Amino acid sequence: MPFPPAFLDELTARNPIEDVVGQYVSLKRSGSNLFGLCPFHGEKTASFSVAPDKGIYYCFGCHKGGSVINFQMEIEGLSYPDAVRALAKRAGMEVPEDEQYQSRYRQQERLWALHKEAARYFHSQLYAPVGASALQYALGRGMSKSTLTKFGIGYAPDSWSGLADALRKKGYTDQELRDSGLVTVSKKNGNLFDRFRDRLMFPIIDVRGNVIGFGGRIMSDKDKSAAKYLNSPETLIFNKRKNLFALNFAKKSKLGYFILVEGYMDAIALHQYGFDCAVASLGTALTEDGAALLSRYTDQVVLIYDGDAAGQNATQRAIPILERAGLQVKVLRMRDAKDPDEFLKKFGADRFKLLLEESSNRVEYQLAAILKKYDLRDDDQKVKYLQESAELISSLSSSVQREVYAGRVAEAAKISMDAMKLEVNRAFKRRLAREKKKQEKIDLAPARALQPKSRSIRYDNIKSAMAEEMLLALVLQEPALLDRTEGLTPEMFSSQLLGRVFSQLSQRHKEGLEVALSGLTDFTSEEISHIAGLLQRQQGPVSEQALLDCVRTIQREYQSGRVETEDDLLALRNRMKERKGIKA
Ligand code: GTP
Ligand code: MN
Repeated sequence: MPFPPAFLDELTARNPIEDVVGQYVSLKRSGSNLFGLCPFHGEKTASFSVAPDKGIYYCFGCHKGGSVINFQMEIEGLSYPDAVRALAKRAGMEVPEDEQYQSRYRQQERLWALHKEAARYFHSQLYAPVGASALQYALGRGMSKSTLTKFGIGYAPDSWSGLADALRKKGYTDQELRDSGLVTVSKKNGNLFDRFRDRLMFPIIDVRGNVIGFGGRIMSDKDKSAAKYLNSPETLIFNKRKNLFALNFAKKSKLGYFILVEGYMDAIALHQYGFDCAVASLGTALTEDGAALLSRYTDQVVLIYDGDAAGQNATQRAIPILERAGLQVKVLRMRDAKDPDEFLKKFGADRFKLLLEESSNRVEYQLAAILKKYDLRDDDQKVKYLQESAELISSLSSSVQREVYAGRVAEAAKISMDAMKLEVNRAFKRRLAREKKKQEKIDLAPARALQPKSRSIRYDNIKSAMAEEMLLALVLQEPALLDRTEGLTPEMFSSQLLGRVFSQLSQRHKEGLEVALSGLTDFTSEEISHIAGLLQRQQGPVSEQALLDCVRTIQREYQSGRVETEDDLLALRNRMKERKGIKA
């Protein structure tokens, strides 16, 4: 059940987009727009725009855009109803709730509260007599008392129902205990028992400060059969791909970069030693979601995974994921210690800082990784080493960078700089040829340049689509113009997407509702971004004449029934084949 349109209109009116966005992005006015650094992808120049008059945001760099509700969804990773709720709360409005939504949200709130209670329980057990050895273990591993407090470290006693009983006493039902994932159900007798027993407990906290899950570590590495770490299962409130450990602290860091490590203990040690920008992925490899989350808070990440082979493989996999999210990546290879935790304890913060300063950019790191694969005393391997390095170097956009790294490789392989340059040039030409082919494909179909980025929103008739875009931009700026579109129906739109927008806007205008992007329903975020983008690009003056021109073009193109799509062409070709008696 959707929220009532009138409620959404008021919600939008009471949450001016420039104010809401302004909480996350520092904006500067330029004409009727405000500009700032995009919070959704790393960038140095401001291509993120907010148009208060249109009630939209749009990034010319990453093409994300939409209404204030879309912004809230995107920036906080919320579902549509939760974004609406957050905005309602911000404006002090009552939400007319649907039964189903309400019960789901209430369930989430109960689970957050339950987890907070569980964290309190574990933490108190750490200082109770049963927790004596756990406390000993934690202190023995170098965690200070204040670190234990800051991270809310706790102890799950060696008991079948210590936590379950404590939570029941606080009024949580057995169903809620199950939903939390903190207890499991015995297959034998159906009884509930604590999932975490005799483990040191690490609360996992989301960016909004809610405890959403736990990691629990065994305290003796002797028992090889037990998993060293046990994590909460996925629940209504916990998705381990979409959260990072310690991000709730790191997001406040003033250091200007983030450190990404593998383990809970590494992140905690870094914070204790003053590197308050450290985060860890949650027992899984870094995901696209994790990288996207990071890119909201920083544009530079230093990767410090374990020094072993597994850690180095994970590093190679993480680099492109981070770069695709728009992050600048540096890599620090652990030396003389297996991980940052051990390093800090052995050598202290100052030496770590030196190491950080030396941390190489990802190119140096990747060149070193290539070098390690080959034995340069063997001629065949040397050639492979040179080719692979040249391939990597040729992908760099800066000629200075290419020159510098080519020099280093030449030196390592003991060949002349000229020979190396030749190799890089060859790789570069191969790359150019590949790219030229791609470009030719695009040039052959000039209409494609005007096409939306996404295949699912392709335009079939570019001429009509341009008029449709312009028309929508006009009526969104001046809703009264909708009165002048009589004779124009959504079916006449060549783009089904734009036709749907027109249909909804006309309907809203008739009902006296706000004609705005925020009023549109049942569009994907990709579609909304596309519409926000076309609004931001249309800058022409608003006039009735402009509108009438658009209407006429759309009608004319509709009547001419022009065939232009690849599908149409294919159909035509098939028909000709049939006529010639050839079976497809
Ligand atoms: P210490 O061994 O206490 O120094 O922990 P660490 O945090 O340095 O962990 P380690 O480098 O061994 O592993 C990195 C991360 O992988 C951990 O923080 C966990 O998130 C995860 N992990 C390690 N072992 C296990 C396991 O047995 N099961 C699961 N689910 N995750 C694990
Ligand atoms: Mn470790």
